[in-house]
Amino acid sequence: MSEAVPLIGTVAIRPVREGDGGALARAYVRNREHLAPWEPLRAESWFAEAGQEENVARRLAEREAGTALAWVLLDGDSVVGTMTVSGVVRGPFLSGNLGYWVDGAVTGRGIATAAVEHVLAACAGEGLHRVQAGTLVHNAASQTVLRRNGFDRIGLARRYLRIAGRWQDHVLYERLLGDD
Ligand SMILES: CC(C)(COP(=O)(O)OP(=O)(O)OC[C@H]1O[C@@H](n2cnc3c(N)ncnc32)[C@H](O)[C@@H]1OP(=O)(O)O)[C@@H](O)C(=O)NCCC(=O)NCCS
Repeated sequence: MSEAVPLIGTVAIRPVREGDGGALARAYVRNREHLAPWEPLRAESWFAEAGQEENVARRLAEREAGTALAWVLLDGDSVVGTMTVSGVVRGPFLSGNLGYWVDGAVTGRGIATAAVEHVLAACAGEGLHRVQAGTLVHNAASQTVLRRNGFDRIGLARRYLRIAGRWQDHVLYERLLGDD
């Protein structure tokens, strides 16, 4: 089983695993207001252990199928964020979509920046060629995290994702991995 890798202070990162559902549900309850403007509308089951355990099982199946990679950020036993690379396409594309959040109680400490760096190294290790990420136009903190990790702005994708109940424009970023 993968050990947690230290990131910043007492916060560490490791791949999500079976049994993380309870800590994930508690984290989403704590961060409900913090995350609401930046995420899709969530069903009530999202905030319950069973719902999160289902989510974990789906991620683990996707990992097995080679279509996603997912991590939790931990401070002791508490989940304080997640990192997910979803929609991984192999063949000549070798690309995936990065998404993440950090607990509102520990933002502004460089945790997301360090975690994205860890995730990019893992993606390179998996043989991916490219990672894409989209942020809401006004998500300055997330754009800072991406720029610091070598992402380039691709452009504006109109009404790209349904966030907080509305189709919203996103700025798309990409980071190429390796040099060939
Ligand atoms: C975006 C997010 C993951 C950043 O996490 P974090 O651990 O605070 O990130 P870091 O500390 O590594 O870097 C964030 C940087 O943005 C800066 N920042 C924060 N809010 C900002 C704002 N409103 N305007 C400009 N810069 C801002 C921070 O000061 C920090 O830079 P600094 O280190 O120079 O001070 C976190 O704020 C979050 O979870 N937000 C809600 C969910 C979300 O937006 N997810 C991403 C969707 S694309």
